[in-house]
Amino acid sequence: MPHLIRYPRIIAHRCGGALAPENTLAGMRIAARLGCRGVEFDVALTADGVPILMHDATLERTTNGAGFLATKTAAEIACLDAGGKHHRAFAVEPAPTFQAALQTCAELGLWANVEIKPTPGTEAETGRVVANLVAGIGPGTVLLSSFSVLALQQALHVAPAIPRALLTETIPADWRDQLVAAGASALHTAASGITVDLIAPLCHSRIQLACYTVNDRATAATLFAAGVSAIFTDRLDLWMPEEM
Ligand code: G3P
Ligand code: MG
Repeated sequence: MPHLIRYPRIIAHRCGGALAPENTLAGMRIAARLGCRGVEFDVALTADGVPILMHDATLERTTNGAGFLATKTAAEIACLDAGGKHHRAFAVEPAPTFQAALQTCAELGLWANVEIKPTPGTEAETGRVVANLVAGIGPGTVLLSSFSVLALQQALHVAPAIPRALLTETIPADWRDQLVAAGASALHTAASGITVDLIAPLCHSRIQLACYTVNDRATAATLFAAGVSAIFTDRLDLWMPEEM
């Protein structure tokens, strides 16, 4: 039986949710200021193998760049504005490296759910690179997750002491087999479409469940009452620090 993951109840989705540009250090600082104890962010590799925080495979939605992340070097990414599309007040905010993100989490005392988000074809390498950088981190402060079973398998190999969660869009009927295949002890799944009936078997098996993306208190309360360990939200402003 794996150790239970000590989740913060409320996790800042993509660092700061609606309150800051996603996957930025500014988001982490705002989350911490609001009393949030844990952040989630997405990590992918540049063309020269540097892990950075980015959700999309392409740059257009969140930065002033264009094209595919996987074709850009870390030096090229470092020149981009990853904040101005959220609000002009964040116009000089960069897309941070994973190492800078880990450093900032440590400084702010934030627990981190690192979502390994490989661009297609880089699943194993991204899993390895990310796991290498967290392998020495003390227990209870980092959780790795991914939709990619291959990435999670690499993470298990490289950093077996760091807990892992499998990401899914629904609770699959064969969740037990999928968790075993991925070497994961927890499931992170979309809140939309899941029901108390689907959650109960996981709880009975002491499999922890966290749900994304929950932007209202009523849904969060229903999920917590059903046994969900944590929710990912864009709306940190809906909770008081003592509730997080
Ligand atoms: O890790 C939870 C959630 O972030 C998964 O969805 O697309 O926002 O990375 P996405
Ligand atoms: Mg994510």
